[in-house]
Amino acid sequence: MRAAILITGGAGFIGTNFILNWLQASPCKVVNLDLLTYAGNPANLASLRGDPRHILIHGDICDAALVRSILAEHRPKAIVHFAAESHVDRSIHAPGSFLRTNVEGACVLLEQARIYWSCLEPSSRLDFRFVHISTDEVYGSLAPHHPPFTEASPYAPTSPYAASKAAADHFARAWHHTWGLPVVITNCSNNYGPFQFPEKLIPLMILNALQGKPLPVYGDGLQVRDWLYVDDHCSAIRAVLSHGRPGEAYNVGARSERANIDVVAAICDLVDEMAPRAAAAGPRRKLIAHVNDRPGHDRRYALDTSKIVRELGWKPSVAFEDGLRKTVRWYLDHPAWIENVCTGAYREWLEQNYAARPDA
Ligand code: NAD
Ligand code: TYD
Repeated sequence: MRAAILITGGAGFIGTNFILNWLQASPCKVVNLDLLTYAGNPANLASLRGDPRHILIHGDICDAALVRSILAEHRPKAIVHFAAESHVDRSIHAPGSFLRTNVEGACVLLEQARIYWSCLEPSSRLDFRFVHISTDEVYGSLAPHHPPFTEASPYAPTSPYAASKAAADHFARAWHHTWGLPVVITNCSNNYGPFQFPEKLIPLMILNALQGKPLPVYGDGLQVRDWLYVDDHCSAIRAVLSHGRPGEAYNVGARSERANIDVVAAICDLVDEMAPRAAAAGPRRKLIAHVNDRPGHDRRYALDTSKIVRELGWKPSVAFEDGLRKTVRWYLDHPAWIENVCTGAYREWLEQNYAARPDA
């Protein structure tokens, strides 16, 4: 039987990129458990149709019986757990699903993984890994002069999203500490790249700029994020799967801090260059509109990544300017994908999130 790994949330942004990257280099089968929420799009994986190495299972990580039967049938040598509710603004509007999927779902998966792993033969037990994909947001917000977070920084999440991810990280550690389940945690900075749902900053701004719509920058736009091209996140996860030490956490980031307003301005310039519009319309930067801030908006995230560099020899390979150019190109080249995801439900979300944010 072909070796398998179980991916959760593989029809979302990072999971899709991970599966496509993984199958370029590995004969190992990928079993992909995804609830196909608004953020999960099976069309992302259309290029794998007919490929026996990818199996998409439409289901919920909170469903213990389903998870148990998948583990029993496919006997994976590792689990990479991406599935989550992932958008901070949605967690402010409706936190319930964040508690359910991000915390309860993670616990269901950990417990079913433990039961499965404990019955493996000794050499398979030793090799098995549960990689829990988390975020830098668990550490809270940094002042401009503070050094970046290390893996030893205390957890201080502020949004419902970050709180749910922090809770899941604690449970993942507890399953390692109590039962020895070989869990490795990654805490990654903001990703960007192909297939990102256009509720997040970068794809939202690309689409709005293309369509000549206002570009809603929250507050003063001086909040800072560290931007990592998604392929670099995927290579970090592969490194963690192969060589990460069970029980450890690894920060994953690009050391590429940018203020939101600078990111939006750079997108405007790239869209002007790659999709020029009539001179009378003027540069896209004119579309920037400062709107009311996100409640409790974290000011800055930044990560010290020396542990993963030192221990696993990983480093990012895509500079922000190059990654942003590739990302704008991808959205320009995929109008059908955009049309497919910009459904009525998406438009309702925009209405809900931005109607309450008149220009500041
Ligand atoms: P996403 O929102 O694009 O995708 C999430 C996927 O999970 C979707 O396919 C969705 O259908 C699926 N899902 C949701 N609830 C589920 C459930 N109950 N059962 C099964 N599947 C379910 O998210 P993303 O941006 O790809 O993020 C993936 C992971 O990486 C998340 O755990 C997130 O916290 C983490 N992360 C994301 C970023 C980022 O910048 N996007 C940065 C650091 C960490
Ligand atoms: P986002 O992509 O939602 O990621 P996160 O909140 O997890 O960092 O937002 C990135 C930054 O961009 C964040 O500081 C909020 C800001 N932002 C805006 O200014 N306007 C927007 O319309 C959105 C979606 C985000």
